Amino acid sequence: MADTDVPARRRSGGVERRSQPAGPIVVIAGVVAVVISIPVTSIFGAWLSPPSPNLWHLVETLLPEAVENTLILVAMVAVGTGLIGVGTAWIVTQCSFPGVRLFEWALLLPFAMPAYIIGYAYTAMLAFPGPVQSWIRATFGVTRDQYWFPEVATVWGAGAMFTLVFYPYVYLLSRAAFLEQSGSTIEVARTLGRSPWGAFLTISLPLARPAIAAGIALALMETIADFGTVHFFGQHTLTTAIYRTWMGMGDRLGSLQLSAGLLSFALLLLFLERWSPRAFTADEISTAQLLSFLEAARWAPSSYNSQPWRFVFARRETPHWGRLLGLLNEFNASWAKGAAALVIVFSKLDMLVPGAAEETPAYHHSFDAGAAWLSIALQATRSGWHAHAMAAFDKERALAELGVPAGFRAEVAIALGKAGNAEKLSAALQAREVPSQREPLERIAFEGRFRA
Ligand SMILES: Cc1cc2nc3c(=O)[nH]c(=O)nc-3n(C[C@H](O)[C@H](O)[C@H](O)COP(=O)(O)O)c2cc1C
Repeated sequence: MADTDVPARRRSGGVERRSQPAGPIVVIAGVVAVVISIPVTSIFGAWLSPPSPNLWHLVETLLPEAVENTLILVAMVAVGTGLIGVGTAWIVTQCSFPGVRLFEWALLLPFAMPAYIIGYAYTAMLAFPGPVQSWIRATFGVTRDQYWFPEVATVWGAGAMFTLVFYPYVYLLSRAAFLEQSGSTIEVARTLGRSPWGAFLTISLPLARPAIAAGIALALMETIADFGTVHFFGQHTLTTAIYRTWMGMGDRLGSLQLSAGLLSFALLLLFLERWSPRAFTADEISTAQLLSFLEAARWAPSSYNSQPWRFVFARRETPHWGRLLGLLNEFNASWAKGAAALVIVFSKLDMLVPGAAEETPAYHHSFDAGAAWLSIALQATRSGWHAHAMAAFDKERALAELGVPAGFRAEVAIALGKAGNAEKLSAALQAREVPSQREPLERIAFEGRFRA
């Protein structure tokens, strides 16, 4: 019986639970999902209409400043909330000092106040007539042009407000991650000679990385979506551009199309999170989870919608695993043996062009399979997993031993798993266990003519 025929089961804390048959709960969940997705669908649906006539005017006038300011805010908030959130979470979970219990919940208090209220308070306090500058002038006997004071109502000031209000997202998730970590791991690291700082950087921080990333992503989404604070600070961002397009220019379509662009910012994070690790955790993957990645591949674009991709997969705990692992070359097998699943991607060499009577060679079969591979990788990333493609495997044996009929090409093998601690890899591989860099855009993208 094939893996997919086995009733879906889920392991949780060693207890195996049967999945519930679809019932009213599934229907209710479906209805809720549809209702929730209406705004997002209608926003992206705006691109079914031709671009608003105002859009190019906006791109030339409002948008450059709006995008620049939004990027500055995103960078500031990512760094600021990361440092404050992780730092405070680490201190309250690892250190014992008077008042630690109070700090544990007090650090959440900024959540109670919207960013623009904090913005009002700081502006009133730090503006020229406010108490701080009045005190400086009175105490040192100086006038306005004799001292320097940072301007609060700037994009940097707004970034500082967001950082102070949204860091609890990172704090909350990092604190939970640090509390879940076994104290003995740190103790072993310390016994083996790691300094407290070294143990934090090499053990606690990498283990908490998914939680930290999730916290920062939430803070960034709040930042990108904010209107009140940036409006109060007189700064133009993508949200104020959308508002002005709608209210100022009366262009509802244009503002919807800009909103779709703003929502795409979230997808950018997905691209940056994707990379190809070689160290994986011991987590097993369910067939349903694995099929959800292949479902994403199903929706990849292909020439004439020929969908030439085919997949053979094996999960680590099944009898098929050895057959797929045995196809990899020695180097890839040495690290991919720790993955949760392997997938071999094949592509069909011939296709039926619409209207033709017979199949003809498909020029783009590998290109299309490549689009399917990226869909798998991005969907895996979105679900907290990682994918690593491998060219080095025995393609002839893959075709023969996996029962592939004639007319297919073995394209690539993929290792899937949750990114784990690099320390289980050899020293040489540990050094490579980081997201890699890319060529600058000007070396790969040319207007009008190829430049060597
Ligand atoms: C088609 C393809 C084949 C690859 N083959 C291998 C391989 O055999 N072994 C390996 O360790 N990595 C392999 N990789 C991973 C690449 O080295 C990696 O994607 C690249 O260095 C970029 O790094 P990133 O994915 O972390 O951004 C392959 C990637 C692709 C797309």
